[in-house]
Amino acid sequence: MSAFMRSAITGVGSYLPETIVSNADLARIVDTSDEWIVERTGIRQRHRARDDQPTSDLAVEAALAALKDAGRDVGDVDLIIVATTTPDLTFPATAAIVQKKLGVPVCAAFDVQAVCSGFVYALSVADGFVARGQARCALVIGAEEMTRLMDWSDRTTCVLFGDGAGAVVLEPVEGRNTPADTGILGFALRSDGRKSDLLYVDGGVATDGRVGHLRMQGNQVFRHAVINIAEAIEAAAAAAGITIAEVDWFVPHQANQRIIKGVGERLGLDENKVISTVSHHANTSAASIPLALDTAIRDGRIRRGDLVLFEAMGGGLTWGACAVRL
Ligand code: ACO
Repeated sequence: MSAFMRSAITGVGSYLPETIVSNADLARIVDTSDEWIVERTGIRQRHRARDDQPTSDLAVEAALAALKDAGRDVGDVDLIIVATTTPDLTFPATAAIVQKKLGVPVCAAFDVQAVCSGFVYALSVADGFVARGQARCALVIGAEEMTRLMDWSDRTTCVLFGDGAGAVVLEPVEGRNTPADTGILGFALRSDGRKSDLLYVDGGVATDGRVGHLRMQGNQVFRHAVINIAEAIEAAAAAAGITIAEVDWFVPHQANQRIIKGVGERLGLDENKVISTVSHHANTSAASIPLALDTAIRDGRIRRGDLVLFEAMGGGLTWGACAVRL
């Protein structure tokens, strides 16, 4: 009987640009306050990339950290997927630019665009490559410079987002096709394009040729998030053959502490099992899950063998979840 192949996360890394923007800094440019932002979102600060520091630079730093963690070299990499909604250029893909900057030899490289759900979507694509033997050392990177999309006169959005990158290395491992296997166990991915006008950027190559600014009907996105993420989490757990109660750690997309709390309450999660970095990172879109994962691995909470559940929701609207044993 042939072996059952899974893809395992063998390395994790992240990078945050040096400049920190506090709520007080933002209160100097829009009519807001630290108190309002903390109470409504849990956000206290966000990082912001330098003008001369494109998304690919953040991605490269996170990728190098993940490769080091996995004990791999750039020469081992045979697939690069970057989840981003803020690419360096319209084309080539940021993944190809990352490939060049890292010095990775010829391989497959492309971007995935599912906004804040991008990392979960990209992981699912990479899982297909690795588990089917098409890649042996895949870099899956979430890298974003959401501050480039802000309308700095719109207090309802500009306080919510930040820049950063996180990356994982995926490699094949032999499993037994049971939930006790190491590696990615199950996904649930969703999109509802009818709700695209709740969260979008009002410019683009084939419309007006501008980059545009992020626009959001925040309270409607909020309601959608709390109701629908729970369903995707349950579906991913079912696909993985596990129960929610067995999960050691939930690593949610970091958009708003109230969404994280609301989803947790809906599913009856122990809040001590939920990783939250939103206070320090704000919403870094596709980068937020690998950034939070890396933070919790570095501080010793998440360990090898733990059962971890990722969940995300973003523009599209897209949402999804993934269960993985580290
Ligand atoms: N400072 C002070 N007041 C503000 C601010 C601010 N930064 N922003 C909005 N307000 C005001 C509003 O103008 C409004 O005033 P009004 O009552 O006089 O009209 C009041 O605060 C309440 O506004 P709401 O929008 O109802 O506030 P809410 O409690 O819904 O919080 C928030 C807003 C934080 C945006 C919330 O709705 C939210 O987090 N939504 C989800 C956003 C999100 O998570 N998106 C995730 C996906 S992101 C992606 O995919 C790219």
